[in-house]
Amino acid sequence: MTEETDLRPSTEADIQSIETLYRSAFPEEDLVPLVRQLLRARDGVLSLVAVSGDDIVGHVIYTRCTVEPGGHTLALLGPLCSARSVRKQGIGSRLVRAGLEHLAAWQTVQVLVLGDPEYYGRFGFMPRCPIAPPYEIPEDWAAAWQFLNLDGSKVPGTGRLVVPPPWQERTLWID
Ligand SMILES: CC(C)(COP(=O)(O)OP(=O)(O)OC[C@H]1O[C@@H](n2cnc3c(N)ncnc32)[C@H](O)[C@@H]1OP(=O)(O)O)[C@@H](O)C(=O)NCCC(=O)NCCS
Repeated sequence: MTEETDLRPSTEADIQSIETLYRSAFPEEDLVPLVRQLLRARDGVLSLVAVSGDDIVGHVIYTRCTVEPGGHTLALLGPLCSARSVRKQGIGSRLVRAGLEHLAAWQTVQVLVLGDPEYYGRFGFMPRCPIAPPYEIPEDWAAAWQFLNLDGSKVPGTGRLVVPPPWQERTLWID
């Protein structure tokens, strides 16, 4: 890749390119309906794209959620992807880190993700988050349910995660 890659919040004009990126990055998992609904919802959704020239080469979403009891706010990270042609150039990491920096606006200190601990561990995510996800995650995926506290504490918290409608689809959690 010769062109510089910039990060910016996505716009409506990006939606089609973002969907194309997901179809290619996740050929065995259809995340397009989730991404489409989150991008339409907009409120409580942070969506960043990585752009190289005219091409969208990466994307990440953070969704604002709450934990019950108590109702405090936290962020759910995902999905995340980069185009095959630009992988291992730090674009995925830049998207994750740029998103984390934006989260102060939500006054949340905690971020959760369901993903490969080998990847998310590099950002400080810790495995086996005890906050209950919307559906019980199979034991062999338990380490993939991770948390990161932006204040540096290692206290994982307790309670039950309450997600907005796009995240309530069962197959996003246990398939
Ligand atoms: C995961 C993904 C977003 C990383 O994007 P990227 O732009 O290559 O990210 P970075 O350049 O910051 O990081 C690349 C590193 O992550 C590693 N990596 C990628 N996927 C990984 C995974 N599932 N588990 C562990 N490490 C992984 C790469 O081997 C590479 O390692 P290196 O730094 O030692 O070379 C990209 O590979 C992708 O879109 N994958 C398909 C979709 C996906 O699985 N997304 C969710 C991740 S759980």
